[in-house]
Order: sequence, then structure tokens, then C-alpha cells
Amino acid sequence: MSAVPPLATARLALEPLAAAHAAEAYAPFADPALYRYMLGEPPASVDALREHFARLVAGSGRDDELWANWLVRRLDDRALVGWHQATVTVPTASIAWVTFPAHRQRGYAREAAAAVIAWLAREGVRDVEAQSDERNVASRNTAEGLGFVPDAESIPETLRGEATVDRVYRLKLD
Ligand SMILES: CC(C)(COP(=O)(O)OP(=O)(O)OC[C@H]1O[C@@H](n2cnc3c(N)ncnc32)[C@H](O)[C@@H]1OP(=O)(O)O)[C@@H](O)C(=O)NCCC(=O)NCCS
Repeated sequence: MSAVPPLATARLALEPLAAAHAAEAYAPFADPALYRYMLGEPPASVDALREHFARLVAGSGRDDELWANWLVRRLDDRALVGWHQATVTVPTASIAWVTFPAHRQRGYAREAAAAVIAWLAREGVRDVEAQSDERNVASRNTAEGLGFVPDAESIPETLRGEATVDRVYRLKLD
């Protein structure tokens, strides 16, 4: 499996995550709104975020599982607008998307995820999975807009003390 490459779209550059992104990424990652429907919590400091990023970059340590993370930069003003992840176990992968709150509903999640999916296809991935808290309408619409189909499977979860359900979405690539 190749290393995580930079990816590009018409409006966005997807930069492979590096520990050195921590200072610039701290403000959006420290926003509690980001974690409404996601595991995780705001980092306590830039150093804590740097350590977290370093763990993500180091990956699982398994030869057959690549952890791919990108920060998404808007080309016209160089602002960081989001974060995308793929856990790649060819021929399968699971992906996740985040657009920072100030930049939502401009098509960035869809545009960046489409670039990630095209890269996964080039790597030989055939089945992509995404999960979304069933209350997370924006994420469910993002999945469906990309062609993901909801699976019959659903996963009961407890998120921040609230019982909920994760919907599983699947996309087949040829
Ligand atoms: C889910 C999220 C990534 C969407 O990002 P975004 O850049 O605003 O999404 P886009 O502008 O690309 O829109 C994608 C689709 O979702 C729809 N959408 C976006 N925000 C929406 C909202 N608040 N309510 C309903 N639909 C919404 C868009 O209309 C679009 O639908 P279409 O493809 O049918 O046109 C963003 O809301 C987010 O980061 N949420 C918090 C993090 C999170 O929950 N991530 C999911 C965990 S995997």
C-alpha cells in the first residue's frame, strides 16, 4: 500500500496530516461543536494536538492497515476548512469527513471525500464504508450525495451519555 499522498480538487488541497499542522489546526479542533456526533474531545493544548496528530501519522503499525488523514486547505485563501480520514485495508476502507463549522454547506465535504474515494479506487479498494450517527443529517446527506447506500445494519452506541444508533453506509467501487 502506498504512503498517504497529497490530493487536489478544483477548490481544495488535501494535505497529508503532519504533527507540524497542530499549531494552525488547534483553533478549529478546539471547537466543541466539532464533536457533537463524533468520538473524541477538544485537545487540551497545541502540544496535546501535536501528540494526537503524531499518533495518527504513526498509524496502526500493521502492514495491512493504512491510516490516511488529510487536512483540507482552500486554495484561494489557504484557510484550513476540514479534515478527512480513511482507514485502508485493501480491498476495503472506512472513511470519515469533517468540515470546520465556519466553512460548512459549500460542498467542501463532498468535494474532498470524492477525491479520497477516487484515490481509494486507484489503490484497489472496492468496498467503502462510512458510519453516521442517525441524528447527524448533514453527514447522512453527505454519504447519500456521494452515492453511499444505507445498510440494514445499525450499531447501537452511547455517545456522551446519550443512547443513539450509528447507521452504516456502503459504496461499491469498480
Ligand atoms: C457532515 C459535514 C462533514 C458536512 O460538511 P459540509 O462541507 O457542510 O457538506 P457539503 O457542503 O459538502 O454538503 C454535503 C451534503 O450534505 C448536505 N448538508 C450539509 N449540511 C447539512 C445540514 N446541516 N443539514 C442538512 N443537509 C446538509 C448538503 O446539502 C449536501 O447534500 P447534497 O450532496 O445532496 O447536495 C459537516 O456538517 C461536519 O463536519 N459535521 C461535524 C463532523 C461530523 O459529524 N462528521 C461526520 C462524522 S463521520
